[in-house]
Amino acid sequence: MFDLIDKNIQSYCDEHTSEENPILYALYRETNLKVLRPRMLSCKSQGTFLQMLSRLIQPKRILELGTYTGYATISLAEGLPDDGIIYTIEKNVELEHIIHKYIQKAGIEHKVKLLLGNALDLLPTLHETWDMVFIDADKINYINYYNLLLPSLSDNGIILADNVLWSGKVIGEIKDKDKDTKAILDFNTFVQNDSRVKNMMLPFRDGIMMIQKMKVCEVIETATT
Ligand SMILES: C[S@@+](CC[C@H](N)C(=O)[O-])C[C@H]1O[C@@H](n2cnc3c(N)ncnc32)[C@H](O)[C@@H]1O
Repeated sequence: MFDLIDKNIQSYCDEHTSEENPILYALYRETNLKVLRPRMLSCKSQGTFLQMLSRLIQPKRILELGTYTGYATISLAEGLPDDGIIYTIEKNVELEHIIHKYIQKAGIEHKVKLLLGNALDLLPTLHETWDMVFIDADKINYINYYNLLLPSLSDNGIILADNVLWSGKVIGEIKDKDKDTKAILDFNTFVQNDSRVKNMMLPFRDGIMMIQKMKVCEVIETATT
């Protein structure tokens, strides 16, 4: 992960952020020891952020694209009410064992639906209204995911899109073949110009775009003023 803020400031922030629960800590350790590309994992501060936001929103339906080993899944599940469910989609079937192991340890099997496969194929098969969405899969499809999901987002529902600063590459010169950076730039511009939503780019970790769907009447009001 690139250093968006001074390392010492980051350490100070981490020292003043609640400790992660022992299950998430164990998952973090096991992922780092045994799974390829552990830098994809959410960390303590991002996990705490997702937990707090989920508790504030109290979502009945959450969708996560890109489970990896389930750190964010378990964090996001924090705010689910008794009848709430988080759907999480992961294309790498080899991660199934570790995801299930920690979901079980967290005691939230009844609240998690893990779908293995390509998110773009699976999304049209889900007929839910989402209160909270975490987009954290392949960057190339961020706009596709956004367009597919916005209609099924509840009024005032929240989409969080991770890695929107893409290690700072969004403000540098882009190499011709760098499709991921281009996709992130297109996504950020698209959201910024979308009058159906309110959005804020948070300079947190690798950048999180927080997007809130406005009610139709608010969209019309904004358009006529
Ligand atoms: C950055 S990691 C997700 C990290 C996780 N959300 C967290 O915060 O702990 C991205 C994951 O998305 C998965 N992925 C990438 N493209 C995908 C696709 N088209 N459909 C489903 N999963 C995908 C990858 O296999 C990888 O495990």
